[in-house]
Amino acid sequence: MRLAQVLRDGMLAIAVPAALLATSSACAADAASGERKAVVCVACHGVGGNSASPGVPSLAAQPPLYVYYQLLQFREKRRVDAQMSPFAANLSDRDMQDIAAYLAVQPVHAPTQPADAEKSAAGKSVADHNHCGSCHLQAYSGQNHIPRVASQHYDYLVKQLRGFKTGARPDIDGTMASAAQPLTDQDIESVAHYLSRLK
Ligand code: HEC
Ligand code: HEC
Repeated sequence: MRLAQVLRDGMLAIAVPAALLATSSACAADAASGERKAVVCVACHGVGGNSASPGVPSLAAQPPLYVYYQLLQFREKRRVDAQMSPFAANLSDRDMQDIAAYLAVQPVHAPTQPADAEKSAAGKSVADHNHCGSCHLQAYSGQNHIPRVASQHYDYLVKQLRGFKTGARPDIDGTMASAAQPLTDQDIESVAHYLSRLK
């Protein structure tokens, strides 16, 4: 893929004057080309961004700005993950925007794991008490740079919430780090259960 990109850029550089190139890179993100660029991601993140692995986040229907910012953070090594980092290392800003545009319009698969009524109720109460929905929205579908967390994998949610609390996961503006501070480990487990079962 890297070689193909070098070739493509090389051919563009020969065929298209610099001013035109600048105009084309300012164009709106292209979901169709994002789908092609995201083929390598399917092995872990699943078809259409619906991951089947508990430790790998689903990306379907994520707000495009969120996906773009996270890919930037992986590329700039602010966010680091042994599996994920190599796949962000060679993406251009344009690649990231195209991929984000593609993922944003993919349908989300309904969660398959059953909800435990007691755990879900406890998790909803943690979410309500801490106003998680004021940023993530009431359906937890996310907005702008704030992720969709509804129907995300339980294991992944627990890891991220613990990471924000300890600082192991950096965040763009510090708001999520503060939101995670008051959560006990029990809170984290119940809110993750609740969110992972939301449609
Ligand atoms: C080898 C497996 C693997 C491949 C291939 C892979 N990823 Fe990932 N990705 C992960 C894992 C694991 C995480 C979660 C890292 C963590 O725990 O913080 C992740 C996280 C992400 C996130 C952050 C999601 C969130 O909710 O914060 C984005 C965005 C992402 N990957 C996009 C991509 C894209 C785009 C590609 C293809 C260009 C890709 N990934 C390829 C394993 C992979
Ligand atoms: C003031 C706004 C705000 C509040 C309140 C808030 N969040 Fe967040 N949340 C964010 C932002 C912004 C991010 C993205 C952080 C980043 O990586 O830069 C985020 C990220 C997350 C993630 C990571 C998801 C992923 O795909 O990696 C989880 C999980 C999460 N929030 C859960 C919660 C829970 C649970 C609560 C309530 C206890 C909560 N949030 C309250 C703004 C907020």
